[in-house]
Amino acid sequence: MKIAILPGDGIGTEIVAEAVKVLKVLDLSFEMEEAKVGGAAYEAHGHPLPESTLKLAQAADAVLFGAVGDWKYDTLDRPLRPEQAILGLRKHLGLFANFRPAICYEQLVGASSLKPELIAGLDILIIRELTGDIYFGQPRGRRTAVDGHFPGAEEAFDTMRYSRPEIERIAHVAFQAARKRAGGKGGKVTSVDKANVLETFQFWKDVVTAVHAEYPDVALDHMYVDNAAMQLVKAPKNFDVIVTGNMFGDILSDEASMLTGSIGMLPSASLNAKNQGLYEPSHGSAPDIAGKGVANPLATILSAAMMLRFSLQQPEAADRIESAVKSVLASGYRTPDIWSEGTQKVGAREMGDAVVTALTSTKTGK
Ligand code: IPM
Ligand code: MN
Repeated sequence: MKIAILPGDGIGTEIVAEAVKVLKVLDLSFEMEEAKVGGAAYEAHGHPLPESTLKLAQAADAVLFGAVGDWKYDTLDRPLRPEQAILGLRKHLGLFANFRPAICYEQLVGASSLKPELIAGLDILIIRELTGDIYFGQPRGRRTAVDGHFPGAEEAFDTMRYSRPEIERIAHVAFQAARKRAGGKGGKVTSVDKANVLETFQFWKDVVTAVHAEYPDVALDHMYVDNAAMQLVKAPKNFDVIVTGNMFGDILSDEASMLTGSIGMLPSASLNAKNQGLYEPSHGSAPDIAGKGVANPLATILSAAMMLRFSLQQPEAADRIESAVKSVLASGYRTPDIWSEGTQKVGAREMGDAVVTALTSTKTGK
């Protein structure tokens, strides 16, 4: 088994180093090979996703990814911007199914900006379609308007689109995930759309409804995205699995992260049809805190656990990492993003060390 390690930019390098440290103490036999991606790759090779990095990712069983981006690249031509690296990896590897679980750990109930009773025990899963929608639809670009409110003016446009097979496959992923979470039967999927306005999402709703016929034990409801944004902060525990398109999923998953206390806690897995996967924290490169050693590595460490479970067939090792994270939180270790009165403020490295210590001390018990 081979893991491609792509730390990227900003805090990406700091948090991936901690996850790699955690993976190394597990005593499992896999190879890890590191490559540059994003702004770091642009600096070194003139491109955010160099051919060599893409090849490494394609040949690997799994990719552990940090984060990309920095304000200093905002003026580059779009194809050279760091974000193109992650979009390119998703597209080239066909990573259409993005899992973003939002779990509120008992110890962090107080770290959220929401009332404790709203989020205590929260365990929801956002499944975001990741290779279609307005993110990738063609045509897109700039031109002179021939109609609209200002004919003759400069305008920009993107294309929102979904094909039936694209919606079908993500709907299957969602229904199966809900069933699995419910222990083999049952569960609930909320499909989020904007069918009242957009043809793409009326189609989405119709196709998800058709696929649902194959999953009679799983409940399905539909919700408009604006309402979903509201319900997520009003009564988040009413959700189980949310399935939605690329753009709505991007926005709702950031919102959901705040239910868990901090976006620094939210891991993600992006899978293709062969279960090859890319694992990354749901947060970005946070250039404002990069290099200060204060970033929260737990989202990346938890992403590594998802990687062990989904792509490397090591579910026990994944469980061990997740328990180690819980015990570290129970011991009161907190990076600044989740710190509260009475807990111990630590940096990225100390947090990673604490997870390693928790892992090595439970080793004999497994
Ligand atoms: C995410 C990020 C990316 C996205 C950016 C960096 C392209 O926000 O993974 O959620 O929009 O998908
Ligand atoms: Mn995002």
